[in-house]
Amino acid sequence: MSNEHLTPVWWPHDSLREAWENGRTEVVSTQPWVAALLYQLIRALDVRRVVELGCYKGITSVWLAHAIAANGGGALRLVDTNAGFLEEAAQRVTNTGPLDVAVFSTHQPSMEFLIDGITADVQFVFLDDDKADVSKKIEVLRKRCPGATLTIHDAETVPELAPYLILPTPPSVGSGHLAVVRL
Ligand SMILES: C[S@@+](CC[C@H](N)C(=O)[O-])C[C@H]1O[C@@H](n2cnc3c(N)ncnc32)[C@H](O)[C@@H]1O
Repeated sequence: MSNEHLTPVWWPHDSLREAWENGRTEVVSTQPWVAALLYQLIRALDVRRVVELGCYKGITSVWLAHAIAANGGGALRLVDTNAGFLEEAAQRVTNTGPLDVAVFSTHQPSMEFLIDGITADVQFVFLDDDKADVSKKIEVLRKRCPGATLTIHDAETVPELAPYLILPTPPSVGSGHLAVVRL
């Protein structure tokens, strides 16, 4: 059994539904119900400066960008070690036209970016890279961006995340759970 019953009833852009219904494994990495949670968290927290660590082909980046746009606009920074994915992701976001959202790309391992490049004004981070050194990343982020919200995909695969809020709430079945950490 999976969490398919959580599939969103509303999508911020038609291309997201189409990607899920037609091409899933080609481009979609994060389950849309998790992307929808990210969208609602960004709306509920009213944040405008968001970073995605590990963007792949940019489907979730589009969800993030449209949540920022719905909040009145802001900035989305995409970080990935794969230059081709970064370019595709940034282009995909631009093609969906989120209003007043500046999109930046950083071609760097996420840990390096957190130590050297992340700025204190970042309010929301979606961590979806290789999941190495998650505890260290949380530690660095607490220093760099105190008060921001960190979300981590596939939280069920990272034992040290067990103390944090994890959605959909375990023991619901399926994979791709989202940890939510207040920094
Ligand atoms: C699971 S995919 C991301 C999926 C994307 N967030 C989405 O929801 O569509 C993981 C991505 O992380 C990138 N990646 C892996 N290790 C990384 C690292 N150490 N730093 C930055 N990016 C990394 C990979 O190139 C890949 O694009």
